[in-house]
Amino acid sequence: MISRRRFSQISAAMGLSLMNSVNALSIKTQNSSPIVVSTWNNKKANQIAYDALIEEPGALLDAIESAVNSVEENEKDLSVGYGGLPDNSGKVSLDACIMDHKHNAGSVCFLRDIVHAVSVARKVMEESPHVMLAGQGAQDFALEHGFEKTNMLSEQAEKAYLKWKKNPVFSPEINGERHDTIGLLAMDSASDLSGACSTSGLSYKTPGRVGDSPIIGSGLYVDNKVGAATATGLGELIMKCCSTFLVVEKMKQGLSPENACRYAIEMIVETQDYSGKQAGLIAINKQGEVGAYAIQKGFIYTVADADGIRVLESNYYL
Ligand code: GLY
Repeated sequence: MISRRRFSQISAAMGLSLMNSVNALSIKTQNSSPIVVSTWNNKKANQIAYDALIEEPGALLDAIESAVNSVEENEKDLSVGYGGLPDNSGKVSLDACIMDHKHNAGSVCFLRDIVHAVSVARKVMEESPHVMLAGQGAQDFALEHGFEKTNMLSEQAEKAYLKWKKNPVFSPEINGERHDTIGLLAMDSASDLSGACSTSGLSYKTPGRVGDSPIIGSGLYVDNKVGAATATGLGELIMKCCSTFLVVEKMKQGLSPENACRYAIEMIVETQDYSGKQAGLIAINKQGEVGAYAIQKGFIYTVADADGIRVLESNYYL
């Protein structure tokens, strides 16, 4: 298959006489640089991934992992990695997954005391015969592979937890208010697609609760022939509709990324009580087109490509 960059070089060399063919492939020609798209305002992460892909075009997973790591170690982010809000016992637990263009996948859930959950997920993918490890087993695996134990409860998260403890009401609507996830998808200059997802999950959840983020087909799905999708929002809604698998399958049937996300959001809305709850989906197809859709207003996502880096607001159902 001809790469986008190679196509640009060839079409430039052949000049205007091939104008019609150029038009037919115009999306590919325009997008000869990498494309990175992530949930929420994650400009820094997108920039890290984009720069890494410019510097080393073939290192797609390295670019994605280092971008997601930057969010996992940012203690100001209250819903991912170190500094994430804890469960109702005051302990932080993480969920993450990663999937590459060869349909390999790795995942960890209910992981405690380790900052870079997505890196452990990558190790599961690359150095174990499994796809998903949970709880103590995931932590033991991480320690065996050189990760270090860290107290994951930041000062800010502890303060918030102690405040919540005075009136420990739990509802997915209230506790979901500050709840999000980094889901990041990237396409390299050879048009290969991969993605990752990482979260500390729903704040003040029941210990042991796992959301959509580490579940392949719910929080993240990649089909390198078609496209990729990732999710954010209330995992309980997303998991029951296998939403990212659905988005990619709908793109396979010809829907644009936004329409595929919309289809999957409508399935959530048709099947479940969604009032007051949020779910947002982003997707990229093999042609480098990007789209998103959410249940409610307010879902933003970040795109980095040759045109720069920008934060966009998705369309929504309500
Ligand atoms: N979407 C992340 C979660 O529900 O845990």
